[in-house]
Amino acid sequence: MALPSMYTETTVQRKNETTVRMHPMSLNEILQRADIVDDLTSIERLLLERTRSTSALLSASGSYTIAAGGKRLRATLVLLSARLGEYDFDRASHPAIAVELLHTASLIHDDLVDNAGQRRGRTTVHSRWDKDVALMLGDYLFALAANELADEPDPRIIRFYVSAAQTMVEGELSPVTQLEPLDIALGQYFRKIGAKTAVLFEAACKSGIAVTGGTPEQVEALGRFGHDLGLAFQIIDDVLDFVGDEIVLGKPAGNDLREGTLTLPLIYAVSNSTTPILHELARTARPDPVRVPQIIAAVRAAGGDASAMREARNLIERAKSHLSIFPPSATRRTLSELGEFVLNRQQ
Ligand code: IPE
Ligand code: IPE
Ligand code: MG
Ligand code: MG
Repeated sequence: MALPSMYTETTVQRKNETTVRMHPMSLNEILQRADIVDDLTSIERLLLERTRSTSALLSASGSYTIAAGGKRLRATLVLLSARLGEYDFDRASHPAIAVELLHTASLIHDDLVDNAGQRRGRTTVHSRWDKDVALMLGDYLFALAANELADEPDPRIIRFYVSAAQTMVEGELSPVTQLEPLDIALGQYFRKIGAKTAVLFEAACKSGIAVTGGTPEQVEALGRFGHDLGLAFQIIDDVLDFVGDEIVLGKPAGNDLREGTLTLPLIYAVSNSTTPILHELARTARPDPVRVPQIIAAVRAAGGDASAMREARNLIERAKSHLSIFPPSATRRTLSELGEFVLNRQQ
């Protein structure tokens, strides 16, 4: 059967230029081998259905955002985690839809906060419409996510998501204020990414195994897997902001520096090197935009991206170790493969 659109190539139109954006085959292959593509296609259809609203503006902006695709990694985690238990697609579909709605809502608000012009290869909601629409659409998708879970009989599921949503908002606003000393900077950085990104990966994994009869120990172990995977995922995202290709990413590269957002490659670069431009940045935080390419080059020369990658690799190893309480199975292998995908992703 045909793959869902987010796993095929997409044509991106920018100014007078047309570019074909290739989505990573490795994720594609992992999903095909796991025989999960049909279920993800159903999730895609249900997501589009859910965003229909009596408000024409919400319908238009909602379907615009959902139809742009996305990797659907969090929904994949819910479904795969559910497959470690007594799999029932109807039951697992609700937390899978909810997690993508919650994630998409957070991206729409995040793009507003980060002044980002592109997302998933398209103009962001606040740029295409305006900030009011972005705020309202984000709120609307949060409400849809809650609605999705309203009929779920296991009260743990709603608790996982509500607690994740609360922590994510705290994480978005939790600042990394300094690049030095290293231990303080690392403490602030890991607190932030744990809250803004890893908790949702954790909730996705926990809800998947919980709805299909997982024991408390299994829920706990899979939650740890999701959390470490989420930390690594955000580190790679932060590396890609320095080394990625924005056409492939579908969102701006270099935006973290421009916005004064201090991330791991920069923290390690400052610690690894005595280059004046990096240490000057440690005092000023938000650079003059014309110096951004120079700073990116300095971070790469100082091995900031390589040190951050090493950290992500260690986290993926730790994530995989949490799966050891489950007997070997095709699904356990797929979850490990997703760890490798996270490390190698270009998008
Ligand atoms: C982007 O997440 C936000 C981060 C947590 C870094 P994804 O890279 O999973 O976004 P989509 O859903 O695939 O667009
Ligand atoms: C992740 O951080 C945002 C959320 C968890 C909502 P980023 O700001 O780095 O994500 P991108 O790069 O905009 O996707
Ligand atoms: Mg952002
Ligand atoms: Mg980013």
